[in-house]
Amino acid sequence: KKGNYDHFMQKEIHEQPQSLTTTMRGRLKGKSVILGGLKDDIKTIRHSRRIIFIGCGTSYNAALAARPFLEELSGIPVTMEIASDLLDRQGPVYREDTAVFVSQSGETADTLLALDYALENGALCVGITNTVSSTLARKTHCGVHINAGCEIGVASTKAYTSQIVVMIMLALDIGDDKVSTKQRRETIIDGLYNLPNIVREVLKLDTAMKDLAESLMDEKSLLVFGRGYNYATALEGALKVKEVALTHSEGLLAGEMKHGPLALVDETLPVIVIATRDGCFSKQQSVIQQLHARKGRLIVMCSQGDVSLACSTGFCRSIEVPQVEDCLQTVINIIPLQLLSYHLTVLRGYDVDQPRNLAKSVTTQ
Ligand code: UD1
Ligand code: M6R
Repeated sequence: KKGNYDHFMQKEIHEQPQSLTTTMRGRLKGKSVILGGLKDDIKTIRHSRRIIFIGCGTSYNAALAARPFLEELSGIPVTMEIASDLLDRQGPVYREDTAVFVSQSGETADTLLALDYALENGALCVGITNTVSSTLARKTHCGVHINAGCEIGVASTKAYTSQIVVMIMLALDIGDDKVSTKQRRETIIDGLYNLPNIVREVLKLDTAMKDLAESLMDEKSLLVFGRGYNYATALEGALKVKEVALTHSEGLLAGEMKHGPLALVDETLPVIVIATRDGCFSKQQSVIQQLHARKGRLIVMCSQGDVSLACSTGFCRSIEVPQVEDCLQTVINIIPLQLLSYHLTVLRGYDVDQPRNLAKSVTTQ
């Protein structure tokens, strides 16, 4: 049921304070994380030679968002695989690997075929899914249900943020035996407790995102630049815009800007740059300066109070978001972009919950 909302996507975006609370329920115990579904296998995961994240679409992007923190806390190399590409290449998977399959539905054909492939190759297979008793949940050796509640809109929103939180908790669980990172882990756990409140705060940008959508309504294209943790936000924001608002959009790694995409920038093309505070902030400041020099139509997403610092070289529109711990910032930053794509879709008169040509669950190859 949609309740007071016009569309499921809208409802699911606004539900995120609650869905994140359910995702974490029973899993944060004081200053530690306990994922019941992994308790028999966590030691094996800690000793694996490599962790491979495997998924499609939004689920892949969620894994990409969690990757830097998992690398940091585990010290284990973490590689990324789009399920179909792993299968196309028949890429190497070994017994010493932990393969983590991420899928909201747990029924995506490519992800399930990649699971069969990893099982044949002897890897420990871990599932992260929203669907109890799904094929993914049944066939993996162990896993974690994200418990975000049923997601009906074809565009994945609340499952994305819950998947990220589960993978952050996975990193905390894997790193739980290390004294050297205890302080860092405790800070993130405090951040997790507070995250639903901050999500509630960022949802207040709804009207501002509707206004922004009005100004972008007739655009043919939208670029989104991110880096570090927020490379995933750029990919996921652009995926939402193309999937529901049927507008061309590309999520780009800001570090690659001068290697091609900068040629597209002129005074007509809108460009979103994600420049919230983290270890990449000064690099993003210089990206913004360079885009200004090319007269780019900038929309800068920055931490509250940072507009003049982020856009020191000229006028730009801004999306100011509350600042949280670096690895949790992706959960906050995607929300204005979800709202933007929702409003763009409504304004353009397209079907929000059932975008043309797409299915909620892609059960064929
Ligand atoms: C489980 C119960 C939950 C209960 C809690 C109390 C279920 C589905 N969950 O939650 O209702 O409140 O104990 O301690 O009954 N699994 C996979 N692959 C996946 C996902 C999960 O194999 O992709 C397995 C897990 O390894 C685990 C089981 O499914 O054995 C349940 O996983 P999860 O719901 O995440 O476990 P808990 O959070 O402990
Ligand atoms: O159910 P899954 O998470 O495996 O689905 C994967 C993709 O099909 C899915 O995330 C798709 O990209 C979404 N419709 C994006 O909003």
